[in-house]
Amino acid sequence: MEQVLFVNACVRGEKSRTLVLARHFLEAYEAHHPDHVITKRDLCRERLQPQYPEILAEREALWKAGRLEEPMFRDARQFAGADRIVIAAPFWDLSYPAILKIYLERISVANITFGYTETGEMTGLCRAKDMIFLTTRGGAYNEPGKSWMEMGARHLEALCAMYGIEQFQCLAVEGLDDDRRDQQAMMLAALVRAEVLAEDL
Ligand SMILES: Cc1cc2nc3c(=O)[nH]c(=O)nc-3n(C[C@H](O)[C@H](O)[C@H](O)COP(=O)(O)O)c2cc1C
Repeated sequence: MEQVLFVNACVRGEKSRTLVLARHFLEAYEAHHPDHVITKRDLCRERLQPQYPEILAEREALWKAGRLEEPMFRDARQFAGADRIVIAAPFWDLSYPAILKIYLERISVANITFGYTETGEMTGLCRAKDMIFLTTRGGAYNEPGKSWMEMGARHLEALCAMYGIEQFQCLAVEGLDDDRRDQQAMMLAALVRAEVLAEDL
């Protein structure tokens, strides 16, 4: 039975268009993969502290003692053990909300999500074959000359390489804060794209 981990970083909750997209995707996904188990990790509900000095010190002490079963590493273990990762986050300040960065720092633990070979090469330890990133953006960044400014999806894709997750797919709805565009039509088109993606996986 496939284990899917859904990481929800949609800070605006019920007002979030990214969450609308994600929920639609997950509904379609469940319909097409009824035997898959989806575990939801809401970063606004169960909150993580940034890695302030004392938290980092605690983490390092536990890690050095080999106590990887401690609650400190629970998110990392959950992430490493999932067969598929789905992340939903809006586009904030050219990347994503800080709560997602805090989560990513927490799960990036040597000997859980990644490690090193005998020759010192970094190697991924995650089980997941793919990561699906769902996002909405106020502006449009897929235009020539602007894509370099987008650092959310690109960062997650790079992390996939570090974690050993072979495939990365991003479903982005762009230009949603541009009043000259028909935002409703754009969202409806995106929901159809989400359905197709959920079916194709
Ligand atoms: C704190 C904050 C930062 C944002 N930064 C950007 C940005 O850098 N570029 C952009 O195009 N839109 C930016 N936006 C707009 C959001 O990307 C856009 O409204 C998105 O659809 C919000 O998703 P949500 O409805 O899921 O919250 C920002 C919005 C907020 C609240």
